[in-house]
Amino acid sequence: MSILHNEQTGIFSLETAHTLYQMKADATGVLLHLYYGKKTGSDMDYLIRYTDRGFSGNPYELSSNRGYSLDTLPQEYSGNGVGDFRLPAVQVLSENGSRSVDLRFVGYAIAKGRRQLSDLPFVREAEETETLTVIMRDSVIGLDLELKYHVFPSQDVIVRSARLINTGNQPLVIEKAASACVDFLYGDFDVIHFHGRHCMERIPERLSLPRGVASFGSRRGMSSHHSNPFVILCDRHATENTGDCYGCMLMYSGNHLEEMEVDQTGSTRLVSGIHPDGFSWTLVPGEAFQTPEALLSYSANGLNGLSRHYHDIIRHQVISPRWQTAKRPVLINSWEAAYFDFDAEKILRFARSAKEMGMEMLVLDDGWFGKRDDDNAGLGDWVVNEKKLGCSMQELSDQIHALGLEFGLWFEPEMVNEDSDLYRAHPDWALADPDRKPMLARNQLVLDMSRQDVVDYLFDAMCAVLDHAKIEYVKWDFNRSIANCYSHALSADRQGEVAHRFMLGTYQLLERLLTRYPDLMIEGCSGGGGRFDAGILYYCPQIWCSDDSDAVERLEIQRGTSYGYPASTMGAHVSASPNHQTGRMTPLSTRSIVAQSGTFGYELNPEKLTDAEKEEIKKQISDYHRFEPLIAEGSYHRLTELDENKDFEAWMFVSPDQKEALVNLVMTHVRANGPFPHIRLQGLNPQYHYRLEGENIAHSGLALVNGGFAFPQMHRDYPAAQLHLVAIDEA
Ligand code: DGJ
Repeated sequence: MSILHNEQTGIFSLETAHTLYQMKADATGVLLHLYYGKKTGSDMDYLIRYTDRGFSGNPYELSSNRGYSLDTLPQEYSGNGVGDFRLPAVQVLSENGSRSVDLRFVGYAIAKGRRQLSDLPFVREAEETETLTVIMRDSVIGLDLELKYHVFPSQDVIVRSARLINTGNQPLVIEKAASACVDFLYGDFDVIHFHGRHCMERIPERLSLPRGVASFGSRRGMSSHHSNPFVILCDRHATENTGDCYGCMLMYSGNHLEEMEVDQTGSTRLVSGIHPDGFSWTLVPGEAFQTPEALLSYSANGLNGLSRHYHDIIRHQVISPRWQTAKRPVLINSWEAAYFDFDAEKILRFARSAKEMGMEMLVLDDGWFGKRDDDNAGLGDWVVNEKKLGCSMQELSDQIHALGLEFGLWFEPEMVNEDSDLYRAHPDWALADPDRKPMLARNQLVLDMSRQDVVDYLFDAMCAVLDHAKIEYVKWDFNRSIANCYSHALSADRQGEVAHRFMLGTYQLLERLLTRYPDLMIEGCSGGGGRFDAGILYYCPQIWCSDDSDAVERLEIQRGTSYGYPASTMGAHVSASPNHQTGRMTPLSTRSIVAQSGTFGYELNPEKLTDAEKEEIKKQISDYHRFEPLIAEGSYHRLTELDENKDFEAWMFVSPDQKEALVNLVMTHVRANGPFPHIRLQGLNPQYHYRLEGENIAHSGLALVNGGFAFPQMHRDYPAAQLHLVAIDEA
């Protein structure tokens, strides 16, 4: 049993392989958070001390006990306006104008497994999953709250969410409903958050938490390039391999907010959920609202340790079982090869050349439909432009398959251009404020995915294409932030629901397509990694990591992404040199080593390659096939510290049985007469001897971990080295 309730003490203990999470409802029904961290084997309520602090008042029924304040005690899910002056987890507007919420414990249930969510992505049940439901009630306003805790013991992950139910007889308007709230009574934390921009996503920034509130989030209608829905709180001295680290990852692709408050005595509260700005949701009596899930994890083994928990749960409980172990095709994508300038003949020439080099799939990117010769028109008209192609999609797909390649196609379902037949027929299907010209971005508008008729149209339009040609793969793009988030199908008082209903519509469309085409692989994309989150990963086993395909920039992007997400989810391609985004020249070998640490592919014009480059690519692809299981299933280790002043980036994968490892190093600054790049390897079995591929030499795991490995000096711009280690015996 990983969930225990002690009837005498009232303590709930949630145990994973290495962690303990405790809470208890006290005599007044307040649900106190007691502890989250390394296992202790004890009841941790002794950590709570009661004292009278000025300006922290007392609940009415406890007015004689001035040491008892909601403002100073650690709360499991903070209410609003009734005496806890820190961040609320929930805020509800009642008919009388009050926004107060005071939740008290009424009961609990412990069950094996977990219930699936019907309209949101969720963490899939593992064999050992158990669920605790704690029921809280505000009987004044008629609100029940079900706090859900799904425990995944072997991954050291606890998945939280909240369900609010209107049990009274007045409508309630939810203005905030967090997925998780965690109070850390003691400890000084740094926060690591993942900021960015288009073409530079998920850049880690580590900051000491100040007194007061720090927050990160997105109001762009998407999880965003700018702020990933994932934060880490870590001990001020934590490194990649040591120290306490807590992660909170929201499984959601829309507006989100992560807030941290360090209070008057230094306690820290973390709250994560749908962004409350602009959000409101009316619950009529009897209705319920389910929040997205938040994945909590703790590691005592530093940031690398925490990342491995997230990699594990995403690979095994978030990604669809269809793709968990399936090999992903090495693909060539037409975007940087041709942009909008192609016909079937050109695409087939790419395909022939790609096939000769060993690639397995051709993906036809933007520009095959409607009137789409540039990015000003055509979105919404998912009708094959046979005139441009020179044939039907079926004919093109048949010819690509005849070459022995699979075929993929680009869509951007949630968007529409004003210059499209769809918009001309249904202008009210686009999100736009009444009487106001909407913001345009890339000359496109956003479809109102909160409308069922829009979702139905897209489903039918996409099926019409997918039914008439053999298509194994869809690249699902999303190329702008959402503004003017107003639906013409909802009443004025329901407009606060549009952003979340939008996400529910998108998830519904993904779900329906995957139900109809269970073998279809959908790759997520949003101008690269603008929706790189666990919500999208539930449907899409891989996401195009960034529109920046420059190998040196990708070092930062893929490293930042690796804190929360495994390599097998990161779409990464070898592109041309000079690179189209930066103009930087990098060796083909470096581009390949960087792209191999993701779902590998090419994004260049194969007709421009020399014979020598084609031969090198053949070797890269055969190497990738050898290393793919290690990269997809192995443990991942960042070998350099964040923000370390260094001339190289290095990372490695180790197979689950520790018998094989792949070490990668890219020089970002070559120096004259420079030092040998030296790193200590990780994750190896100290008992094994490892042979270095290509060299008649072996070293013990103990030596490689403790003494490390020194690479030779390298020359020219951005050279890279790869070390493949295979265990030959036990020492
Ligand atoms: C943005 C994507 O990230 C690119 O890879 C490409 O698909 C373009 N959109 C096409 O418009």
